[in-house]
Amino acid sequence: MATFVHSLLTEVLALIILRFVPTLEQSDNYIIHMDSSFMPKVFSDHHSWYLATVSSLERSLNPKVRARASATSTSKLIYSYTHVIQGFSASLSPSELEVLKQHPGYISSMKDLPVKADTTHSIQFLGLNSHSGAWPTSDYGKDVIVGLVDSGVWPESLSFNDDGMTAIPSKWRGECEVGMQFNTSMCNKKLIGARFFNKALIAKTAGNYVKGASFFGYAPGTATGVAPRSRVAMYKALWEEGAHSADIMAAIDQAIIDGVDVLSLSLGIDGVPLYADPIAIATYAAMEKGIFVSTSAGNEGPVVQTLHNGTPWVITVAAGDVDRDFGGTITLGSGVSIAGLTLFPGDPSLGESPIVFADSCDPTMLSKISPMNIVVCDDGNDVFSDQVENVQLAKVAGGVFITGSSDLGTYIQSSFPAIFLNRTDGETVKAYIKNSSEPTASIQFRKTLIHSKPAPSVASYSSRGPSPSCPVVLKPDILAPGSMILAGWPQNNAVSMVNSRELFNNFNLLSGTSMSCPHIAGVAALLRAAHPEWSPAAIRSAMMTTSYSMDSTNAPIKDSGNDYEQASPLAMGAGHVDPNKALDPGLIYDATPQDYVNLMCAMNYTSKQIQMVTRSSSYNCSDSSLDLNYPSFIALFSPDNLGSPTAQEFFRMVTNVGDGPSTYAVKVTPVEGFKIVVSPSKLTFKEKCEKRKYKLTIQGPKQMNQKLVFGSVMWMDDGGKHVVKSPIVVTSLSSEALTSRT
Ligand SMILES: *[C@@H]1O[C@H](CO)[C@@H](O)[C@H](O)[C@H]1NC(C)=O
Ligand SMILES: *[C@@H]1O[C@H](CO)[C@@H](O)[C@H](O)[C@H]1NC(C)=O
Ligand SMILES: *[C@@H]1O[C@H](CO)[C@@H](O)[C@H](O)[C@H]1NC(C)=O
Ligand SMILES: *[C@@H]1O[C@H](CO)[C@@H](O)[C@H](O)[C@H]1NC(C)=O
Ligand SMILES: *[C@@H]1O[C@H](CO)[C@@H](O)[C@H](O)[C@H]1NC(C)=O
Repeated sequence: MATFVHSLLTEVLALIILRFVPTLEQSDNYIIHMDSSFMPKVFSDHHSWYLATVSSLERSLNPKVRARASATSTSKLIYSYTHVIQGFSASLSPSELEVLKQHPGYISSMKDLPVKADTTHSIQFLGLNSHSGAWPTSDYGKDVIVGLVDSGVWPESLSFNDDGMTAIPSKWRGECEVGMQFNTSMCNKKLIGARFFNKALIAKTAGNYVKGASFFGYAPGTATGVAPRSRVAMYKALWEEGAHSADIMAAIDQAIIDGVDVLSLSLGIDGVPLYADPIAIATYAAMEKGIFVSTSAGNEGPVVQTLHNGTPWVITVAAGDVDRDFGGTITLGSGVSIAGLTLFPGDPSLGESPIVFADSCDPTMLSKISPMNIVVCDDGNDVFSDQVENVQLAKVAGGVFITGSSDLGTYIQSSFPAIFLNRTDGETVKAYIKNSSEPTASIQFRKTLIHSKPAPSVASYSSRGPSPSCPVVLKPDILAPGSMILAGWPQNNAVSMVNSRELFNNFNLLSGTSMSCPHIAGVAALLRAAHPEWSPAAIRSAMMTTSYSMDSTNAPIKDSGNDYEQASPLAMGAGHVDPNKALDPGLIYDATPQDYVNLMCAMNYTSKQIQMVTRSSSYNCSDSSLDLNYPSFIALFSPDNLGSPTAQEFFRMVTNVGDGPSTYAVKVTPVEGFKIVVSPSKLTFKEKCEKRKYKLTIQGPKQMNQKLVFGSVMWMDDGGKHVVKSPIVVTSLSSEALTSRT
C-alpha cells in the first residue's frame, strides 16, 4: 500500500512538473533505438510510427498542443532511419525523453554527439600505373561506387571530370540533390550523387541559419584519384558550423539505400563504447550489406590510446607523412648547379634566361623587371609567402626564393616556375649575379627527390592504439598517405628517383588538405572491382597482409611522433598500403557479421547493447569469443599483476585465394621477452577457397618490463610469390581492458 501511495504521489508530482516545465526546458537531439517488433499494425511504415510516437510525447505532456501536434512533431523528428538503426533522431526535452522511455518499443537513446573531422596535410605517391598492377587488373575500379561522407565537393575539380566514363551503373539509386550553391547540373558520370545532411545541426543550433557560403570546402576527391573509373557520391554531413552524429547516421543510411559499394568516413567520435558510437552502429549495418567502410584513426597522436573508429568491422586508417622533398636544380651561367626544392608541376625545365636579384621582391621593385627574367628574392626576416605571391603577379619567367624556413608548405607547389634555396646556396647565386655582367640561369624541375628523412613515416598527429572501444583488436589497421591530390604528371616525363623504389609512372599524388581514409576507400574500390566476391573483411585482410613496413631506405618505417624510432603497429597498423600487392594476397582472414557478434558477446555487452548494434534481437551468443579471425594480433598483459596470464592463445583461419595448390611455411619475427609458437608451421592447400586453421601462442614472463613490444608472423608460399604478414603486439598499455579481462 505504501508503495502504491508513493508511486501515485510520484506520478502526480511528475504530472505537475511536466505540465509546467516543458516551456522552460532546453531540448536536445537524441538518437532513439526502437524495437520494430512493437510497431502496431496500423502503421504502414516505420516513419509514420516514429512520427506518431513523437507527437504522442507532446500530447501526453501538454494536451493543448494536440491541435498542432503533427506539425510540431515533424520538426521535432529529425530523421527516421532505415538501415543504420531501427529508430529515429529527434529534438526532445528531458521530460519528453522520460515519457518516451515508457513507450513500448523503446530500447534506448543516445545523445546526438559532436563528430570530429580528421583533416590534415602531407605528400605521397602511390605505385599505381597503367601498365600493370591494380589499375589495369581492376579496370581502374570501373563502376564501383564510393560514397564520401565528408565536408563537401568541388565539382569543378579535375578529379570529377567525367571524360571517358561510361553511363552510370544501373544499380545506382542515388540522387544529385539541389543544395546550397549546388545544382544538379554539377553532377556528371563521375560525381553521380550529392546529398546534404544538416537537419540535426540546424535543430541543435535552434534553427540558426547555417551558412551556405562555406559549402564548397575544397575536397579533392582523392578516392577518384586512386580508382579513376569508380564513381563518387558525396554525402555532405560535415559543416563548418559543426557536425552531428544524427546527420552522419542519416548520410550513411542514405548511402546504403543509394547502393554505394565503399564508404569513406573521415570523421569519428572519441571516448564511447561500440554500442554507444553512432558511427560504429551505422557502419555495422553497412558491413552487413557488404559495403567496405574506411575510417580515419583521428589526429590526436602521438599519445597512445587516442584513436577513434577502433571498430572491429571497419578498417581504421593511420596517416603517413612523406618527409621527402621534391627537388629541382638551378644551373647558373657559370656552369654551377645548385639543388633546391620545387614541386612546380608544369614544364620540366625553364630555359636559360637572364637572372636578376630583386632583394625582398616588393611589387614596386618587381614592376621594373622585364618579364624575360628570372628574379631572385631573399626573404631576409620577412615571410617568403608574400614574395611568392608578388612574383606570381609580376608574371616574370621564374622565381628563385632564398629562405631560411624549413616549412615551405604548399608554396613549393607553385603555379609558375619557382625554386626554393637555403641561405648558403642563396649566397652562391647572389655572388654569381653580382660578379657577372650578364648573369643567366636555367631551372630544371622534377629532377631529384631529396630525402630529408626516410619515407614514409607515421605522421606525428596520427592517433594511436590500442583502441579504447575494443582493445582486443589491434588498431589502427593500416597506414596511408595523410593527404593527396591526384595531379597529372606527363607520361613521358617520369620522375627520376634517387631511390630504387619505383613509385609511379604517369600519375603523381600531391599534397593538399585531405585524409588517409579516402585513399584506402579508393584502394578498396580497385579491389572490389577486381574481386567482386570478396567480403569487406577479405578486402581489409588483403590490404593489411600485403602492406609494407620498410621505408625508402629499406629500414623499418619510423614514427615521426616518437623521435623517428621504429613505428609500432599501434601507430601504423600492419604497414603502409600497397595497392598492387593487395590484389593478390595469397591468403585472407575473413570474418562474418556473426563473428563480430561473438566478439561483442565476449566483451560482455548486454543483449540490449548488442541489439543496438545489430538491430536485431535474434543474434546468438553461443560462440562467444574475444578472438576474432583478424589479420593482426594484440595480447594485453598486465604491467605488474603477478596473477596475470603468462600465455595467450589465438586461433586463426585463413582462406586460400591464390590459384591452385600451394604450401605456406610460417616465419616469426621475434617479440622481445616473449616466445611465439605457431602450430602447425606449414599450411597446405589443394585448391582455391580452401580454409586452414592455425594456433598462435604468446608466452611471456609474469611481468612486462616494457609497455610495448612487437613482432610479426608471416606465411610464405613455396613459390615465394605470396607473403602474408600480420603484426603482433604485446602491451600493458590498455590496463582497463585488462582489468575487465582478469
Ligand atoms: C547550374 O549551374 C550552372 C553553372 O553554375 C549554370 O550554368 C546553370 O544555369 C545552373 N542550372 C540551373 C538549373 O540552375
Ligand atoms: C644548404 O644546402 C646545401 C646542400 O644543397 C647544404 O650543403 C648546406 O649545408 C645547406 N645550408 C643550410 C644553411 O642549411
Ligand atoms: C667572378 O668572375 C670572375 C671572372 O668572370 C671569375 O674568375 C671569378 O671566379 C668570379 N667570382 C665569383 C665569386 O663568382
Ligand atoms: C546459435 O548458432 C549456432 C550456429 O550458428 C547454432 O548451432 C545454434 O543452434 C544457435 N543457438 C541458438 C540458441 O539459436
Ligand atoms: C566477461 O565476464 C566474464 C564472467 O564474469 C569474465 O570472466 C570475463 O573476463 C569478462 N570479459 C570481459 C572482456 O570483460
